[in-house]
Amino acid sequence: MRIIITDSIEEFNIKAADIVSQQISSNPRTVFGAPTGETPLGLYRELVDRCKAGAIDFSQATCFSLDEYIGISPDHSQSSHYYMHNNFLKHINISEENIFIPNGMTQDIFGECRSYDNMIDSYGGIDFLILGIGQNGHIGFNEPADTFPSSSHLVELKESTINANARFFENKLDVPRYAITVGVKTIMQAKKVLLMAHGNSKTAAMQKALEEDVTPQVPASILQYHHDVTIIADKAAASRLGKE
Ligand code: F6R
Repeated sequence: MRIIITDSIEEFNIKAADIVSQQISSNPRTVFGAPTGETPLGLYRELVDRCKAGAIDFSQATCFSLDEYIGISPDHSQSSHYYMHNNFLKHINISEENIFIPNGMTQDIFGECRSYDNMIDSYGGIDFLILGIGQNGHIGFNEPADTFPSSSHLVELKESTINANARFFENKLDVPRYAITVGVKTIMQAKKVLLMAHGNSKTAAMQKALEEDVTPQVPASILQYHHDVTIIADKAAASRLGKE
């Protein structure tokens, strides 16, 4: 694992955008996986600016969103559909047919999960996976559990995730309790992973994920077994790393 520790949020976003830019220019047909949430917002802004300036070209790239809430429509302001389009995808030159996001309104959740995995497989898997990390160590919406769920699946969100995400909703009761997420197999089969974390709320999760035992109770800890992970963390998120 390579760890880049940044001094400021600007540096955090620029370093992450440099890594993504390098990936897209070395393989314009990159299939990338992308999270929602607060962490990658600055990265997406930076990539949009670079794309508008002609410095990065997404025209041949493909994006798979990592997850979607169950029961909220694509035009709901907190859906992954809405987030990904409004914060990133509609501002770059990616083709609409190369954008994939699970359907959280499906009546057939199992079928939706299976066809999402089949679609990822039909693209040869993910080349480059961008991840955030939950305060409880989740990646995508793979929540702490007794086993690592391998395929895309329905997940019941933990109370800690609902509490953390309540800040995006008017009322905590509005936070969906279920989501579809890609599974750990998709994550582990990604050729490269970029894990991003900033802020004090991620310090404990980062230490557990990177320095303690690999356990499905801390889903991000599986990344210790991945062969190509780059971590970008600010000083706060990285403050317990290497300290025992
Ligand atoms: C969401 C996702 C999650 C988030 C994590 C951190 O698509 O993949 O794992 O990355 O919950 O969220 P923020 O960035 O809001 O702290």
